Amino acid sequence: MPTMPEPAPTVQQLLAFYLEAGVDCALGEEPINRLADPDAAPPPREPVVREAPPKTLFQTAPAALPARADATIAPEAAIGSARELARTAPTLEALRALLENFDGCALRQTATRLVFADGNPQARIMFVGEAPGRDEDIEGLPFVGRSGKLLDRMIAAIGLDRSKAYIANVIPWRPPGNRTPTPQETQICLPFIQRQIELVNPDVLVTLGNPSTQTLLQTREGIMRTRGKWFDYDTGTRVIRAMATFHPAYLLRSPSYKRMSWQDLRAIAKVLAQSS
Ligand code: URA
Repeated sequence: MPTMPEPAPTVQQLLAFYLEAGVDCALGEEPINRLADPDAAPPPREPVVREAPPKTLFQTAPAALPARADATIAPEAAIGSARELARTAPTLEALRALLENFDGCALRQTATRLVFADGNPQARIMFVGEAPGRDEDIEGLPFVGRSGKLLDRMIAAIGLDRSKAYIANVIPWRPPGNRTPTPQETQICLPFIQRQIELVNPDVLVTLGNPSTQTLLQTREGIMRTRGKWFDYDTGTRVIRAMATFHPAYLLRSPSYKRMSWQDLRAIAKVLAQSS
């Protein structure tokens, strides 16, 4: 008996398939037909016009990047520009304004908004994660999703809450579909988080998970070896104590490591109590 052809999937079925496959955001204004004849020239795209960056901030930076539609800037140039710019920010507000207008990282184009920080800039403890996820991208605040709820419990375990801690990420824009940031994206964003740490000037810096630990504490060791150990973090103006611990998202997947993270938190609480 001849088999009947499958009916074409409905739009709802297609969207459900994409969501299940992890595709949860659109990267461009227009869909791209990747099955189209490659020799046929695509129609010219309208340039995206961005607002010009605030003059006073960018004029102080010799290597400032011009506002542009796409971040096709060579990574080295973007890293150089990020370094020049970040050190010109005298305050956290100025640093946030710089990042709002920084065009050197392509993630800014795909993210909904900048996720700069949450908590108290006067806090004695600062937590740094890797990059915002979907919930953070929607709210514009770091660690507000499931792993954020666990981070809140970790902070509560040392007798604090978000009003007594400062929270940020190495990368302040959500990578599309929560993919891992590229090494270039990390290097471009690094001068900004380094300046953020310097401006907050906490007594204790806590890096959450491998990427943040390896980037900020300049180690190639994995989190199993780095966690629970004290590092010296040189802000450029002061050496502060830093500890790596597990990322809350990892603890959600592997709850048996919560015991070790509890030990790390106790060591952190002890140092905070000693230095107060
Ligand atoms: N994971 C991170 O590293 N940062 C967030 O803000 C949320 C999840």
